[in-house]
Amino acid sequence: MNAYRAPPGPDVQRMFAAIADRYDLLNRLLSFQVDRYWRHHVVRVIRSMRPSPHDTCLDVCTGTGDLMLELRDRVGLQVVGADFCHPMLLHAQEKLRTGPNQPTNQLIDADAQALPFRDGKFRFVTIAFGLRNIEVMEHGLREMFRVLSPGGSLVILEFSRPVIPVFRSLFAFYFSHILPRLGAWISGTQGPYQYLPDSVSRFPSQVELADVITSVGFERVQHRNLTGGIAALHWATKRNGL
Ligand SMILES: C[S@@+](CC[C@H](N)C(=O)[O-])C[C@H]1O[C@@H](n2cnc3c(N)ncnc32)[C@H](O)[C@@H]1O
Repeated sequence: MNAYRAPPGPDVQRMFAAIADRYDLLNRLLSFQVDRYWRHHVVRVIRSMRPSPHDTCLDVCTGTGDLMLELRDRVGLQVVGADFCHPMLLHAQEKLRTGPNQPTNQLIDADAQALPFRDGKFRFVTIAFGLRNIEVMEHGLREMFRVLSPGGSLVILEFSRPVIPVFRSLFAFYFSHILPRLGAWISGTQGPYQYLPDSVSRFPSQVELADVITSVGFERVQHRNLTGGIAALHWATKRNGL
């Protein structure tokens, strides 16, 4: 398997800055609202790990903050959201103003490959639709490992590839031909919604990604396909004593 690489960071920053104002709308429209259901699965997995209300969570590549809000409001975690695209963070900041905000729910402008946190700070690290966009995914994963406390857990939600052949062909048609046109039309910019299917087609499969997660030191790596494998959830643990 060739190592997957995302475009250089400044290109990714520019791409998300260009669509930040329409990002949420496009997510809902292009996924037929299924993106919300996928984030609920992250919440379920975290709940199954029996978090306590004082547990801290870092949501890497938080973007406009949708997962961060779910974790704050549905699980009651103290969540820090990190992203390196300021225009995306401004939308997250606006949304954070609603609901039970606490000083511990913060947004930080930071690169996932050099997180500005001490070792072992967080009980949970989450990342939704972000890993595929980090220039060197392994650098990001190593940082996530570092900032997790021993015994802490990582949960990754990312696009993947459907596993059932007929469904895969139907979805490929939508994803490669219809979604880029709709995305370009609504966002007013061509690149990002062509990049989406292109990057997903190059990204490691569910099993390959589990191997990458293991290779940076995580244990008990598990995954589950969502909506036939359009997206996948991976979760893993940093061993106690590390
Ligand atoms: C597709 S959006 C996902 C946003 C959000 N997590 C969600 O579920 O909608 C990807 C986000 O990753 C961020 N990102 C990509 N590479 C990054 C990096 N190296 N460091 C920090 N953020 C990064 C982008 O700025 C963008 O906001």
